[in-house]
Amino acid sequence: MVKERILVIGASGQIGVELTLALRKMYGNANVIASDLREENDLLKGTGPYVSMDVMNKKMLHLQVIRQGVTQIYLLAAILSATGEKNPHLAWSLNMQSLLNVLDIAKEEHLHKVYWPSSIAVFGPTSPKQDCPQQTIIEPTTVYGISKYAGEFWCNYYHQRYGIDVRSLRYPGLISYKSAPGGGTTDYAIEIFHTALEEKKYECFLREDTYLPMMYMPDAIRATIELMEADASNITVRTSYNLSGMSFSPKEIAAEIKKHIPDFSISYKPDYRQPIADSWPQSINDMVARKDWGWKEDFALDRMVEDMFKNL
Ligand code: NAD
Ligand code: SER
Repeated sequence: MVKERILVIGASGQIGVELTLALRKMYGNANVIASDLREENDLLKGTGPYVSMDVMNKKMLHLQVIRQGVTQIYLLAAILSATGEKNPHLAWSLNMQSLLNVLDIAKEEHLHKVYWPSSIAVFGPTSPKQDCPQQTIIEPTTVYGISKYAGEFWCNYYHQRYGIDVRSLRYPGLISYKSAPGGGTTDYAIEIFHTALEEKKYECFLREDTYLPMMYMPDAIRATIELMEADASNITVRTSYNLSGMSFSPKEIAAEIKKHIPDFSISYKPDYRQPIADSWPQSINDMVARKDWGWKEDFALDRMVEDMFKNL
């Protein structure tokens, strides 16, 4: 069996921490190198190698790939939807250049695999709202969505032209308790748990009827690993796979939280994130992922809420 050496870029972020820990379990602690611009997340400390690195510095990234004998890269560094709207040029620059740096190095160093996540944010107001299919009208209106859609086609291009085995998932909003979210429109679905526990009330920045596609982090980590472990011959989508877990509104998650904290109350004060949420589909059709590599989610809203409270 070929020995893999995996570099996770953006390892101190919401997904990075849990994905790094899961990959270390599979490949051995020493073979998964965590890296980030910011300091090492406390949960990663002592579990394996950590390198402080800016993915925009291509020379340094290339040097690390050679020095560490890297065979796979998971690129998680990005600016998410809400933060992206505050600084569109910075979001475009980081989200695009980081991917191009990684794909170029993957080509030069003949890396075995690259993972790069896309998002439901590729879809826009003209995409179907319900059960949004893999292939449909895709006209994103946020800079984040534009960067993800462009990125998907760069992945496809490097695969077609240079044979890079790059794989991708369009994650829904991800809900987790281990590491904090990084500036997305779906972050309310995490904040709500923390304020429910601390203050028994929450002021939501989205309207009560804003349905969005969501997923619990254990499902997202498993989906990522299952996609990356799948036989290359089963991967028919080289842009990015639709992926679905659950779909709910702020009103529905609040009702579920009330079952655990009966005196919890929610109020609504929609802000600049409402139009972002309104531009996205409310639910996703991921039939292709199910067919190609056997995807199936574990967590629905009630079980996710129960598990969050068990762990927070
Ligand atoms: P996050 O913001 O929590 O983490 C990103 C990490 O990248 C941070 O730790 C940050 O310090 C690091 N980073 C930023 N700039 C960097 C640079 N120049 N060099 C090195 N590291 C840098 O984000 P996340 O939620 O973990 O998202 C990871 C990926 O998944 C992103 O591509 C995001 O678009 C995608 N995604 C996330 C969600 C979600 O709900 N969390 C949903 C869809 C897609
Ligand atoms: N959770 C992400 C966001 O809201 C979706 O990519 O930005």
